[in-house]
Amino acid sequence: MNESIKVKGNASVANVSCGFDCIGYAISNPGDIITLSKKETPGIDISISGFGSDSIPCNSESNTGGKAILSLLESLKSDQGFKLHIKKGIPPGSGIGSSSASAAAAVFGANELLGNPLSLDELLIHGMAGEAVASGGFHADNIAPALFGGIILVRSYAPLDILNLPVPKNLFSTVVLPDMTINTKEAREILPTNVPLKNAIEQAGNLSGFTLGLHESDFDLLGRSMVDHFAEPYRAKLIPGYDTVRDSALDAGAIGCGISGSGPAVFALSNSLKQANIIGEKMADKFEKLGLASQVYCSSIHTKSPKILE
Ligand code: HSE
Repeated sequence: MNESIKVKGNASVANVSCGFDCIGYAISNPGDIITLSKKETPGIDISISGFGSDSIPCNSESNTGGKAILSLLESLKSDQGFKLHIKKGIPPGSGIGSSSASAAAAVFGANELLGNPLSLDELLIHGMAGEAVASGGFHADNIAPALFGGIILVRSYAPLDILNLPVPKNLFSTVVLPDMTINTKEAREILPTNVPLKNAIEQAGNLSGFTLGLHESDFDLLGRSMVDHFAEPYRAKLIPGYDTVRDSALDAGAIGCGISGSGPAVFALSNSLKQANIIGEKMADKFEKLGLASQVYCSSIHTKSPKILE
């Protein structure tokens, strides 16, 4: 059995407009790389480098990767100790699943080093425990795609029911990340706890339309369905120029566009990589006009689990 492993966990786009807390997809880049080694004494020693490393706690109870491994060890009644190094390629507070990428890679790597006692499905709950320390909420729409790849529907949280949605062949993602951060916990706290029945009905209709659009590769239906009545109306004001950035993506031919997770990243879907790149440039231009530099990530939907690098 290996004593040490290096794993890449991928970024993800949660909510995808109409699926607040229940739809997410994984993207190829950026990602976090974790290096995990067994140690002889119990406990998890954590070190962090890369984007935003100064702002991330190294205490294993408060660190998403550390907490995910602790949860896994507790379920196995194991006191195995680990050294965990997290190289952040995804800035925290970006809205593209920074904490989930670390948590997914950490539980995946720990499970490998322990001889794979748990299935991928069984790892999810431990990844969610890690994610919860950062976001203040128990949601799986970043961690599930980070762990399984693809486009994921969380049909139910109690009991947990995670479904793989089909990924149309020509579906591409653009993510534009402006140079600012939004704290997920705070972005969840500004949301109302109740929604008007009218909005719930429209959201249910759009979510159903979105899943059917994926099944039938009907991009027009996908676009019509990418409307959010739950989070976007409250969170849009946290992102400078959000409406103009979104309009620029739609004008450039995006199927749909919305806030990625809790933001500030903004995502768009399109039907070719070329289009995804053009849309990214247009969106980045809008942010630049507002004085915000940004990073653009374009790719197909990433359909794989965390990758073992060494
Ligand atoms: N569904 C979560 C939210 C994702 O929007 O709060 C956080 O990235």
